[in-house]
Amino acid sequence: MQLTELRIRDFRNLVDVELEPCSGLNLVSGPNASGKTSLLEAIFYLSYLRSFRTTNLSDLINHNARDFQLFAMAKDQRQKEIPIGIRRGKILLEVRADHQEIKRVADMTAMLPVLAIHPDSYKLVTGSPSDRRSYLDWGVFHVEHGFYQAWQRYRKALSQRNAALRSGYNRSFCTAWDHELDSAAKTIDASRSRYVQNLKVHLKTKIDTFFPGSQVRIDYRSGWSRDYRLSAVLEQTFDRDRRRGFTQAGPHRADLLIEVDGKSAQSGISRGQQKVLVALLRLTQLEQFTRATSRQCILLYDDLAAELDPHYRRQLLALLNQMPVQLFLTAIEPEQIDKGPWANVRRFHVEHGHIVRLER
Ligand SMILES: Nc1ncnc2c1ncn2[C@@H]1O[C@H](COP(=O)(O)OP(=O)(O)OP(=O)(O)O)[C@@H](O)[C@H]1O
Ligand SMILES: [Mg+2]
Repeated sequence: MQLTELRIRDFRNLVDVELEPCSGLNLVSGPNASGKTSLLEAIFYLSYLRSFRTTNLSDLINHNARDFQLFAMAKDQRQKEIPIGIRRGKILLEVRADHQEIKRVADMTAMLPVLAIHPDSYKLVTGSPSDRRSYLDWGVFHVEHGFYQAWQRYRKALSQRNAALRSGYNRSFCTAWDHELDSAAKTIDASRSRYVQNLKVHLKTKIDTFFPGSQVRIDYRSGWSRDYRLSAVLEQTFDRDRRRGFTQAGPHRADLLIEVDGKSAQSGISRGQQKVLVALLRLTQLEQFTRATSRQCILLYDDLAAELDPHYRRQLLALLNQMPVQLFLTAIEPEQIDKGPWANVRRFHVEHGHIVRLER
Protein backbone atom coordinates (compact mmCIF):
# COMPACT_ATOMS: atom_id res chain seq x y z
CA MET A 1 0.00 0.00 0.00
CA GLN A 2 1.04 3.55 -0.59
CA LEU A 3 -0.64 6.86 0.04
CA THR A 4 -1.32 9.03 -2.97
CA GLU A 5 -3.30 11.73 -1.16
CA LEU A 6 -3.52 12.87 2.41
CA ARG A 7 -5.80 15.44 4.04
CA ILE A 8 -5.56 16.36 7.71
CA ARG A 9 -7.95 18.55 9.68
CA ASP A 10 -7.44 19.65 13.29
CA PHE A 11 -4.88 17.02 14.17
CA ARG A 12 -2.50 18.66 16.70
CA ASN A 13 -1.24 21.88 15.05
CA LEU A 14 -2.15 20.63 11.55
CA VAL A 15 -5.40 22.54 11.13
CA ASP A 16 -5.84 22.18 7.40
CA VAL A 17 -3.21 20.29 5.47
CA GLU A 18 -3.22 18.54 2.11
CA LEU A 19 -0.42 16.75 0.38
CA GLU A 20 0.22 14.33 -2.44
CA PRO A 21 3.12 12.11 -1.47
CA CYS A 22 5.19 10.21 -4.02
CA SER A 23 5.75 6.47 -3.93
CA GLY A 24 9.45 6.79 -2.99
CA LEU A 25 11.05 9.24 -0.55
CA ASN A 26 8.93 12.01 0.96
CA LEU A 27 11.30 14.32 2.77
CA VAL A 28 9.60 16.55 5.31
CA SER A 29 11.68 19.38 6.74
CA GLY A 30 10.99 22.31 9.03
CA PRO A 31 12.05 23.92 12.29
CA ASN A 32 11.30 22.59 15.80
CA ALA A 33 7.61 22.55 16.69
CA SER A 34 6.51 23.10 13.08
CA GLY A 35 4.45 19.87 12.89
CA LYS A 36 6.77 17.26 11.31
CA THR A 37 6.22 14.54 13.90
CA SER A 38 2.51 15.37 13.95
CA LEU A 39 2.33 14.63 10.23
CA LEU A 40 3.90 11.19 10.74
CA GLU A 41 1.67 10.62 13.75
CA ALA A 42 -1.42 11.30 11.60
CA ILE A 43 -0.29 8.71 9.04
CA PHE A 44 0.43 6.26 11.86
CA TYR A 45 -3.06 6.88 13.21
CA LEU A 46 -4.58 5.78 9.89
CA SER A 47 -3.22 2.28 10.47
CA TYR A 48 -3.27 1.83 14.25
CA LEU A 49 -6.04 4.22 15.33
CA ARG A 50 -3.69 5.39 18.04
CA SER A 51 -0.57 7.53 18.35
CA PHE A 52 3.04 6.42 18.89
CA ARG A 53 3.67 9.15 21.43
CA THR A 54 0.54 9.56 23.54
CA THR A 55 -2.35 7.48 24.80
CA ASN A 56 -4.29 10.64 25.53
CA LEU A 57 -6.73 11.37 22.74
CA SER A 58 -7.18 15.04 23.67
CA ASP A 59 -3.46 15.59 22.93
CA LEU A 60 -4.24 14.79 19.31
CA ILE A 61 -7.30 16.96 18.76
CA ASN A 62 -6.38 20.54 17.93
CA HIS A 63 -6.94 22.76 20.96
CA ASN A 64 -9.54 24.83 19.10
CA ALA A 65 -11.50 21.90 17.67
CA ARG A 66 -13.86 19.18 18.87
CA ASP A 67 -12.58 16.41 16.63
CA PHE A 68 -9.96 15.70 14.00
CA GLN A 69 -10.39 14.26 10.54
CA LEU A 70 -7.99 12.27 8.41
CA PHE A 71 -8.59 11.36 4.83
CA ALA A 72 -6.25 9.35 2.64
CA MET A 73 -6.28 7.73 -0.72
CA ALA A 74 -4.25 4.54 -0.65
CA LYS A 75 -3.21 2.48 -3.65
CA ASP A 76 -2.66 -1.25 -3.36
CA GLN A 77 -0.23 -3.42 -5.36
CA ARG A 78 -2.88 -3.95 -8.04
CA GLN A 79 -3.19 -0.17 -8.38
CA LYS A 80 -6.66 -0.22 -6.84
CA GLU A 81 -7.46 3.05 -5.07
CA ILE A 82 -8.90 2.73 -1.58
CA PRO A 83 -10.29 5.79 0.22
CA ILE A 84 -9.80 5.87 3.98
CA GLY A 85 -11.59 8.31 6.27
CA ILE A 86 -11.36 8.77 10.02
CA ARG A 87 -13.16 11.21 12.25
CA ARG A 88 -12.31 11.18 15.92
CA GLY A 89 -13.74 13.25 18.76
CA LYS A 90 -13.90 12.66 22.51
CA ILE A 91 -16.76 10.22 22.00
CA LEU A 92 -17.14 10.07 18.27
CA LEU A 93 -15.17 7.53 16.24
CA GLU A 94 -15.87 6.93 12.57
CA VAL A 95 -13.56 4.80 10.50
CA ARG A 96 -14.29 3.98 6.88
CA ALA A 97 -12.11 2.25 4.35
CA ASP A 98 -12.99 1.14 0.86
CA HIS A 99 -16.52 2.52 1.38
CA GLN A 100 -17.16 0.30 4.38
CA GLU A 101 -17.30 0.93 8.08
CA ILE A 102 -14.33 -0.55 9.95
CA LYS A 103 -15.16 -2.01 13.33
CA ARG A 104 -11.87 -3.53 14.48
CA VAL A 105 -8.47 -1.83 14.66
CA ALA A 106 -6.85 -5.04 13.42
CA ASP A 107 -8.75 -4.78 10.13
CA MET A 108 -7.36 -1.29 9.56
CA THR A 109 -3.82 -2.33 10.52
CA ALA A 110 -4.00 -5.32 8.20
CA MET A 111 -5.27 -3.19 5.33
CA LEU A 112 -2.72 -0.38 5.69
CA PRO A 113 0.64 -1.69 6.99
CA VAL A 114 2.63 1.14 8.54
CA LEU A 115 5.86 1.00 10.56
CA ALA A 116 7.39 3.88 12.46
CA ILE A 117 10.91 4.59 13.68
CA HIS A 118 11.17 7.66 15.90
CA PRO A 119 13.48 9.08 18.57
CA ASP A 120 11.77 6.98 21.28
CA SER A 121 12.10 3.76 19.33
CA TYR A 122 15.35 2.90 21.15
CA LYS A 123 12.98 1.76 23.91
CA LEU A 124 12.66 -1.42 21.92
CA VAL A 125 16.09 -2.15 23.38
CA THR A 126 15.99 -0.29 26.70
CA GLY A 127 12.29 -0.52 27.54
CA SER A 128 10.10 -3.21 29.04
CA PRO A 129 9.31 -6.67 27.61
CA SER A 130 5.98 -5.30 26.37
CA ASP A 131 7.88 -2.95 24.02
CA ARG A 132 9.66 -5.96 22.55
CA ARG A 133 6.49 -8.03 22.37
CA SER A 134 4.73 -5.34 20.38
CA TYR A 135 7.71 -5.20 18.01
CA LEU A 136 7.62 -8.95 17.61
CA ASP A 137 3.86 -9.18 17.24
CA TRP A 138 3.63 -6.55 14.51
CA GLY A 139 5.62 -8.91 12.32
CA VAL A 140 3.96 -12.10 13.50
CA PHE A 141 0.53 -10.53 13.00
CA HIS A 142 1.22 -9.66 9.37
CA VAL A 143 3.15 -12.78 8.44
CA GLU A 144 1.78 -15.74 10.43
CA HIS A 145 -1.75 -16.87 9.69
CA GLY A 146 -3.76 -17.90 12.70
CA PHE A 147 -1.70 -15.84 15.13
CA TYR A 148 -4.24 -13.09 15.62
CA GLN A 149 -7.13 -15.46 16.29
CA ALA A 150 -5.01 -17.45 18.75
CA TRP A 151 -3.94 -14.24 20.48
CA GLN A 152 -7.57 -13.08 20.78
CA ARG A 153 -8.57 -16.44 22.27
CA TYR A 154 -5.64 -16.33 24.66
CA ARG A 155 -6.34 -12.78 25.84
CA LYS A 156 -9.97 -13.54 26.51
CA ALA A 157 -9.22 -16.71 28.49
CA LEU A 158 -6.42 -14.95 30.39
CA SER A 159 -8.60 -12.08 31.51
CA GLN A 160 -11.29 -14.51 32.66
CA ARG A 161 -8.78 -16.60 34.59
CA ASN A 162 -7.28 -13.50 36.22
CA ALA A 163 -10.74 -12.23 37.19
CA ALA A 164 -11.54 -15.63 38.73
CA LEU A 165 -8.22 -15.64 40.65
CA ARG A 166 -8.98 -12.23 42.10
CA SER A 167 -12.56 -13.11 42.99
CA GLY A 168 -11.38 -16.05 45.12
CA TYR A 169 -13.29 -18.75 43.22
CA ASN A 170 -12.33 -22.35 43.94
CA ARG A 171 -9.44 -23.99 42.14
CA SER A 172 -11.41 -25.94 39.55
CA PHE A 173 -13.30 -22.79 38.54
CA CYS A 174 -10.07 -20.79 38.11
CA THR A 175 -8.32 -23.51 36.13
CA ALA A 176 -11.26 -24.06 33.78
CA TRP A 177 -9.45 -21.83 31.26
CA ASP A 178 -6.09 -23.63 31.44
CA HIS A 179 -6.86 -25.91 28.53
CA GLU A 180 -7.85 -23.00 26.29
CA LEU A 181 -4.76 -21.04 27.36
CA ASP A 182 -2.54 -24.03 26.66
CA SER A 183 -3.92 -24.58 23.19
CA ALA A 184 -3.77 -20.90 22.16
CA ALA A 185 -0.27 -20.56 23.67
CA LYS A 186 0.99 -23.37 21.46
CA THR A 187 -0.02 -21.51 18.28
CA ILE A 188 1.26 -18.15 19.56
CA ASP A 189 4.56 -19.61 20.64
CA ALA A 190 5.14 -21.58 17.44
CA SER A 191 4.38 -18.48 15.33
CA ARG A 192 6.66 -16.22 17.34
CA SER A 193 9.46 -18.74 17.47
CA ARG A 194 9.38 -19.33 13.68
CA TYR A 195 9.27 -15.61 13.12
CA VAL A 196 12.33 -14.89 15.26
CA GLN A 197 14.34 -17.69 13.62
CA ASN A 198 13.74 -16.11 10.25
CA LEU A 199 14.40 -12.61 11.56
CA LYS A 200 17.79 -13.62 12.92
CA VAL A 201 18.94 -14.98 9.57
CA HIS A 202 18.11 -11.75 7.76
CA LEU A 203 19.35 -9.46 10.49
CA LYS A 204 22.80 -11.02 10.41
CA THR A 205 24.02 -9.40 7.17
CA LYS A 206 22.94 -5.95 8.32
CA ILE A 207 24.62 -6.39 11.69
CA ASP A 208 27.85 -7.36 9.93
CA THR A 209 27.78 -4.12 7.93
CA PHE A 210 26.82 -1.76 10.77
CA PHE A 211 28.66 -3.42 13.65
CA PRO A 212 31.63 -5.09 11.98
CA GLY A 213 33.35 -7.59 14.24
CA SER A 214 30.54 -7.55 16.83
CA GLN A 215 28.32 -10.44 17.79
CA VAL A 216 24.66 -9.57 18.23
CA ARG A 217 22.55 -12.22 19.87
CA ILE A 218 18.76 -12.27 19.76
CA ASP A 219 16.96 -14.89 21.78
CA TYR A 220 13.27 -15.43 21.99
CA ARG A 221 11.84 -16.12 25.45
CA SER A 222 8.41 -17.68 25.32
CA GLY A 223 7.10 -16.55 28.73
CA TRP A 224 7.25 -19.93 30.47
CA SER A 225 9.66 -22.84 30.63
CA ARG A 226 9.31 -24.57 27.28
CA ASP A 227 10.37 -27.89 28.76
CA TYR A 228 6.79 -28.13 29.99
CA ARG A 229 3.36 -27.60 28.56
CA LEU A 230 1.83 -24.34 29.70
CA SER A 231 -1.05 -26.20 31.38
CA ALA A 232 1.46 -28.09 33.56
CA VAL A 233 3.21 -24.84 34.54
CA LEU A 234 -0.12 -23.19 35.36
CA GLU A 235 -0.96 -26.14 37.56
CA GLN A 236 2.34 -25.83 39.41
CA THR A 237 2.18 -22.08 39.93
CA PHE A 238 -1.50 -21.94 40.84
CA ASP A 239 -1.05 -21.03 44.50
CA ARG A 240 1.29 -18.17 43.66
CA ASP A 241 -1.02 -16.96 40.90
CA ARG A 242 -3.88 -16.93 43.38
CA ARG A 243 -1.87 -14.98 45.97
CA ARG A 244 -0.83 -12.38 43.42
CA GLY A 245 -4.17 -12.30 41.67
CA PHE A 246 -2.88 -12.80 38.14
CA THR A 247 -1.41 -15.46 35.88
CA GLN A 248 2.34 -15.22 35.84
CA ALA A 249 3.41 -17.63 33.12
CA GLY A 250 2.43 -17.67 29.45
CA PRO A 251 2.97 -15.92 26.14
CA HIS A 252 1.80 -12.62 27.66
CA ARG A 253 5.19 -12.61 29.43
CA ALA A 254 7.31 -13.33 26.34
CA ASP A 255 10.42 -11.28 25.64
CA LEU A 256 13.38 -10.91 23.32
CA LEU A 257 16.83 -11.01 24.78
CA ILE A 258 19.17 -8.71 22.86
CA GLU A 259 22.91 -8.84 23.53
CA VAL A 260 25.89 -7.24 21.86
CA ASP A 261 29.23 -8.95 22.46
CA GLY A 262 27.85 -10.73 25.49
CA LYS A 263 26.53 -7.54 27.11
CA SER A 264 22.91 -6.55 27.35
CA ALA A 265 22.03 -4.05 24.62
CA GLN A 266 20.16 -2.12 27.32
CA SER A 267 23.32 -0.89 28.95
CA GLY A 268 26.31 -2.25 27.03
CA ILE A 269 26.17 -0.02 23.94
CA SER A 270 25.86 3.72 23.27
CA ARG A 271 22.59 5.53 22.60
CA GLY A 272 23.54 6.04 18.94
CA GLN A 273 24.27 2.33 18.60
CA GLN A 274 20.95 1.47 20.24
CA LYS A 275 19.18 3.65 17.68
CA VAL A 276 21.00 1.98 14.82
CA LEU A 277 20.28 -1.48 16.20
CA VAL A 278 16.58 -0.67 16.55
CA ALA A 279 16.47 0.67 13.00
CA LEU A 280 18.06 -2.58 11.76
CA LEU A 281 15.56 -4.67 13.72
CA ARG A 282 12.67 -2.70 12.26
CA LEU A 283 13.98 -2.68 8.71
CA THR A 284 14.62 -6.42 8.78
CA GLN A 285 11.06 -6.86 9.92
CA LEU A 286 9.88 -4.71 7.09
CA GLU A 287 11.75 -6.74 4.48
CA GLN A 288 10.37 -9.91 5.99
CA PHE A 289 6.87 -8.46 5.69
CA THR A 290 7.33 -7.70 1.98
CA ARG A 291 8.90 -11.07 1.28
CA ALA A 292 6.08 -12.95 2.97
CA THR A 293 3.14 -10.93 1.68
CA SER A 294 4.38 -9.31 -1.58
CA ARG A 295 2.84 -6.11 -0.25
CA GLN A 296 4.40 -2.69 0.14
CA CYS A 297 4.60 -1.08 3.56
CA ILE A 298 4.68 2.58 4.56
CA LEU A 299 7.68 3.55 6.66
CA LEU A 300 7.67 6.65 8.85
CA TYR A 301 11.13 7.70 9.99
CA ASP A 302 11.14 10.64 12.38
CA ASP A 303 14.30 12.64 12.87
CA LEU A 304 16.76 10.13 11.47
CA ALA A 305 19.67 12.50 11.91
CA ALA A 306 19.21 12.94 15.68
CA GLU A 307 22.13 11.55 17.67
CA LEU A 308 23.68 9.82 14.67
CA ASP A 309 27.08 10.69 13.24
CA PRO A 310 27.49 11.27 9.47
CA HIS A 311 28.85 7.75 8.97
CA TYR A 312 25.82 5.99 10.49
CA ARG A 313 23.48 8.44 8.76
CA ARG A 314 24.98 7.66 5.36
CA GLN A 315 24.86 3.93 6.01
CA LEU A 316 21.24 4.05 7.16
CA LEU A 317 20.15 6.15 4.18
CA ALA A 318 21.84 3.67 1.83
CA LEU A 319 19.94 0.85 3.50
CA LEU A 320 16.64 2.74 3.43
CA ASN A 321 17.11 3.33 -0.27
CA GLN A 322 17.10 -0.47 -0.78
CA MET A 323 13.84 -0.88 1.13
CA PRO A 324 10.67 -1.69 -0.78
CA VAL A 325 8.66 1.05 0.96
CA GLN A 326 6.95 4.36 0.62
CA LEU A 327 9.10 6.43 2.95
CA PHE A 328 8.26 9.54 4.97
CA LEU A 329 11.39 11.01 6.51
CA THR A 330 11.60 14.12 8.67
CA ALA A 331 14.59 16.36 9.28
CA ILE A 332 15.09 19.83 10.67
CA GLU A 333 17.38 20.78 7.79
CA PRO A 334 16.82 19.01 4.47
CA GLU A 335 20.60 19.06 3.95
CA GLN A 336 20.89 16.44 6.71
CA ILE A 337 19.47 13.91 4.28
CA ASP A 338 21.29 12.96 1.12
CA LYS A 339 18.42 12.21 -1.23
CA GLY A 340 20.84 11.47 -4.09
CA PRO A 341 20.21 7.72 -4.34
CA TRP A 342 16.42 8.13 -4.69
CA ALA A 343 14.95 8.38 -8.16
CA ASN A 344 11.55 9.25 -6.79
CA VAL A 345 11.59 12.14 -4.29
CA ARG A 346 9.18 14.79 -3.09
CA ARG A 347 10.16 17.47 -0.63
CA PHE A 348 7.79 19.20 1.76
CA HIS A 349 8.42 22.08 4.11
CA VAL A 350 6.45 22.52 7.33
CA GLU A 351 6.13 25.80 9.18
CA HIS A 352 3.59 26.54 11.95
CA GLY A 353 1.41 23.63 10.86
CA HIS A 354 1.37 24.59 7.17
CA ILE A 355 2.90 22.28 4.62
CA VAL A 356 4.15 23.33 1.19
CA ARG A 357 5.73 21.24 -1.51
CA LEU A 358 9.24 22.31 -2.53
CA GLU A 359 10.97 21.91 -5.86
CA ARG A 360 13.25 18.86 -5.97
N1 LIG B 1 -3.59 19.32 20.34
C1 LIG B 1 -2.81 20.30 19.86
N2 LIG B 1 -3.37 21.43 19.34
C2 LIG B 1 -2.58 22.42 18.84
N3 LIG B 1 -1.23 22.34 18.81
C3 LIG B 1 -0.64 21.25 19.31
C4 LIG B 1 -1.39 20.18 19.86
N4 LIG B 1 -0.53 19.22 20.27
C5 LIG B 1 0.70 19.68 19.99
N5 LIG B 1 0.65 20.90 19.43
C6 LIG B 1 1.79 21.73 18.96
O1 LIG B 1 2.13 21.29 17.67
C7 LIG B 1 3.45 21.71 17.38
C8 LIG B 1 4.11 20.68 16.51
O2 LIG B 1 4.65 19.62 17.24
P1 LIG B 1 5.53 18.49 16.53
O3 LIG B 1 5.98 17.61 17.62
O4 LIG B 1 4.79 17.90 15.40
O5 LIG B 1 6.75 19.35 15.97
P2 LIG B 1 8.06 18.89 15.17
O6 LIG B 1 8.08 19.64 13.89
O7 LIG B 1 8.12 17.43 15.09
O8 LIG B 1 9.22 19.46 16.12
P3 LIG B 1 10.66 18.86 16.53
O9 LIG B 1 11.58 19.19 15.38
O10 LIG B 1 11.01 19.63 17.74
O11 LIG B 1 10.51 17.41 16.76
C9 LIG B 1 4.09 22.00 18.73
O12 LIG B 1 4.28 23.38 18.83
C10 LIG B 1 3.04 21.56 19.74
O13 LIG B 1 3.04 22.40 20.87
MG1 LIG C 1 9.41 16.05 15.98
